[in-house]
Amino acid sequence: MLTPWRLFLCQMALNIFYHIAKASLCLGGQDIFATVRENSPTGEIIANLGINGDPGASSIRLCLTGENADWFYLEGRTIRLNSSFSRILDREVLGSVLIAALTCYEDNIIRSRYRIMVEILNENDNMPYFLEDTIQPRYISELLTVNSMVFTVKARDGDGDTITYMTDKSTADASYFRIDLPNSGMVILDKPLDYETKTQLQVVIFAVETTTKEKYSATATVTVNVLDGDDQYPQFQPCAPVYVDGDHNICTNPVYSVNITETDEDAVLYFSPGPIHAEDGDKDILTPLVYSILSGDDNGRFTIDSKTGEISLKQRVENRLLMPSFSLRIMAAQVNDPKKYSVATALVHVLSKNRFPPFFNKTVYKGFLIESSSPATLVTTYGNQVLVVQAIDRDFRDGINPKIHYTMQPLTGSNKLYHITQDGIVIARTDRLRAFDRHILEVIATDEESGETAHASVDIEVLQRGQPVPRSPFGEERLFGDMNVGMAGGIAALVLIVAVIVLFLFLWLIKRRRERRDPADRGAVALGKHPNVEASSPSSPHHVL
Ligand SMILES: *[C@@H]1O[C@H](CO)[C@@H](O)[C@H](O)[C@H]1NC(C)=O
Ligand SMILES: *[C@@H]1O[C@H](CO)[C@@H](O)[C@H](O)[C@H]1NC(C)=O
Ligand SMILES: *[C@@H]1O[C@H](CO)[C@@H](O)[C@H](O)[C@H]1NC(C)=O
Repeated sequence: MLTPWRLFLCQMALNIFYHIAKASLCLGGQDIFATVRENSPTGEIIANLGINGDPGASSIRLCLTGENADWFYLEGRTIRLNSSFSRILDREVLGSVLIAALTCYEDNIIRSRYRIMVEILNENDNMPYFLEDTIQPRYISELLTVNSMVFTVKARDGDGDTITYMTDKSTADASYFRIDLPNSGMVILDKPLDYETKTQLQVVIFAVETTTKEKYSATATVTVNVLDGDDQYPQFQPCAPVYVDGDHNICTNPVYSVNITETDEDAVLYFSPGPIHAEDGDKDILTPLVYSILSGDDNGRFTIDSKTGEISLKQRVENRLLMPSFSLRIMAAQVNDPKKYSVATALVHVLSKNRFPPFFNKTVYKGFLIESSSPATLVTTYGNQVLVVQAIDRDFRDGINPKIHYTMQPLTGSNKLYHITQDGIVIARTDRLRAFDRHILEVIATDEESGETAHASVDIEVLQRGQPVPRSPFGEERLFGDMNVGMAGGIAALVLIVAVIVLFLFLWLIKRRRERRDPADRGAVALGKHPNVEASSPSSPHHVL
């Protein structure tokens, strides 16, 4: 800026001419220090000159020079503002001070020179605005800790007003951010970010003039893109939801299960509810996982493919009764961070290879009971052996399938008189049975593993007390074996006839003996009718009667 120099030179010249012409018309003025409001209209009075002469009437001539001289014009001794509609007095463009000089000529000779310094008074004619590069979308890791700075915005105001920044609390994501120092524009994280729930947030920021009465403001919406950080643990699939917590699905690892048989060997196991598979909880990172069996591999009987999680059975199970099931603990860990892992259970059940259905080796089992008052008696068969109604399962070396369940229902006769144990032994409520009862029952053997069934019937006869149990279906047993109720009735009638005859004979014999002993008997009677005897018991007739 040369202005000070020029001012200095003007001053020098002024001093020189001051001495030359003392009583000049150009004299009487002074340096002008004035103010004008920003955006003032043209013609606005800046200052009145104090010089002695009148430029219109006398020989003096005034001349405006200097850098900003064209912002002024003279009207007599008044300096006015020279602005126009298209040329506004803008402090933000011109700066705060306008500088010019006023030279006064008298007879074309410079007589005096005055400085003009006009301060433009600021008007709040500018809104704040955000610097574009400070409100660009941001990419922030979800692992950013709360209370750290997320980003800083910056707004400008043409009038140089002080700006305060604040977030719009009414927006959905407002709770994630705050501004601690209102003048800083520093946006602080107020709540943890979570990529798994929200991948993008919007924060609305106001920049407001603090010191003006207009309180002009600017608004900017900054998009915060959340980047997936490695904060989630692997999760076995399919994950079984337990409950929903906000936007989070809280779920547990599934329990995998598979059925194998004793013959399986060197086979890949296909588990339900799906193959053994885990996924990194960080869906955007999906770090590779490594699988291993933590426990239960039974010395290498089971192996796992560390990459795919596929489990294979290497050695067959020799005896499923000794090893009916296995429980394996499977771990899936992040390759890059083994501390991030998850454990699931895989159950392996050993089933029998069900090639044969169970069967009974008889269609009808013969059972006997001896009439008695005992509440429970084992039903026997020929030779008084305990009757065992047992189905044979050729899937088992000894033919005995422990998973067979026996049930029994009466085909004839009443219910609840018989009960079958799980060993195939039939128990009867003997106290409710009578000799010559005969009941036919159906026995059903169900293989609980395969659901296959076998049927047989049990034909039970109740024998009389003391009656021997037949030795076999072919000998003496035929007599009783085929005995039916009619025959039993016949026998009973026969026994009755014999009994009647015996009774008859007995009575007859007694009669005969009485007739033979009559004289003695009569004596005894006479003796009994002795008067003394009669007299000795006068009241006895009542007793006798
Ligand atoms: C007023 O300003 C305009 C535009 O710059 C200029 O052309 C004009 O000469 C000025 N008037 C005076 C009296 O200086
Ligand atoms: C395994 O076998 C049991 C009984 O037979 C059956 O209930 C179950 O559904 C089977 N499980 C699988 C995974 O096949
Ligand atoms: C039928 O099976 C039983 C065992 O349940 C056995 O003791 C018996 O000898 C078998 N009988 C025949 C004819 O196979």
